[in-house]
Amino acid sequence: MDDFIRPRRLRGSERMRRLARETRVSLDSLVWPLFLREGKNIREEIPSLPGQLRYSPDQAGEAAERALRSGVRALLLFGIPQEKDERGSQAYAKNGVVQQGIRALKERYPELFLITDVCMCEYTSHGHCGILSGRRVDNDKTLPYLAAAALSHAAAGADMVAPSDMMDGRIAAIRTALDENGYTDTPILSYAVKYASAFYGPFRDAAGSAPAFGNRKSYQMDFHNVREAVKEALLDVGEGADMLMVKPAMSYLDVISRVKAETRLPLAAYSVSGEYAMLRAAGAQGLLDEYAAMCESAAGIFRAGADVLITYYARELAEAIKKGDLG
Ligand code: PBG
Repeated sequence: MDDFIRPRRLRGSERMRRLARETRVSLDSLVWPLFLREGKNIREEIPSLPGQLRYSPDQAGEAAERALRSGVRALLLFGIPQEKDERGSQAYAKNGVVQQGIRALKERYPELFLITDVCMCEYTSHGHCGILSGRRVDNDKTLPYLAAAALSHAAAGADMVAPSDMMDGRIAAIRTALDENGYTDTPILSYAVKYASAFYGPFRDAAGSAPAFGNRKSYQMDFHNVREAVKEALLDVGEGADMLMVKPAMSYLDVISRVKAETRLPLAAYSVSGEYAMLRAAGAQGLLDEYAAMCESAAGIFRAGADVLITYYARELAEAIKKGDLG
């Protein structure tokens, strides 16, 4: 009798626990970020992101094969140009590094889904995400540059473009440019909710994109706010986004869940460079079980409401899914 009325955990075996999982994750929900560096024969370890490499476009096939072998079929491409200038002209150059990379990958691996990061900060000499007027990032002046970058990615064969700059009105500007040029079927993943975060540190080393002066607080969000996140997301819905993103992920699970509840688009979460570096470093020092912590934090992000997870652990998570440790 006592047993009948006492609440208890799920009865049964490990098989039962797997049967009854509330959160399901599949290989299709993983995206792996990839850094493309202009040049030839480059395959270099990224010191701030142990286990991640920068590839030149001619070597990117190796990354594609590593992804596909693990079961990951979607990549998010970032470019590191040789030349940077005031206006970030390599961001929208027909033969820019990302554009070259897309063509090379699409030709050999048509089964890959290629998403491109659309931003100016890796391409501008000042490292800001837009065009400057004096020392201020000029929102409206930046929009045509972002539209040109997105268009050049679509023309090279990108499956989806993902603006990460946080300028207001850029989804509408990009949608219009794509539609006017015949890319009506190219979707936009909006980095709708992007906080000014210390967790981007390792990425900025990897991409050489730290701002030369000031910070990104005038265009990225304040980490105290969540209603503002919903507002940003709804604005992008109105401008024609096809998928939304919350970034970073681990410290923003409430934001993921709020945006999920208040919008109707598929939602991606970006578990950023600092989150990966943190788990790697703690694991390497024997402070925690990296594999278990990786699975747990990924499950937490999906449980919060993400449909898609962008993560440097994509391949390892794919292996975990295949083993049944996750999903
Ligand atoms: C470009 C961009 C950044 C990241 C993704 N796109 C850097 C930034 O905003 O400073 C960060 C990704 C990561 O940390 O993994 N604007």
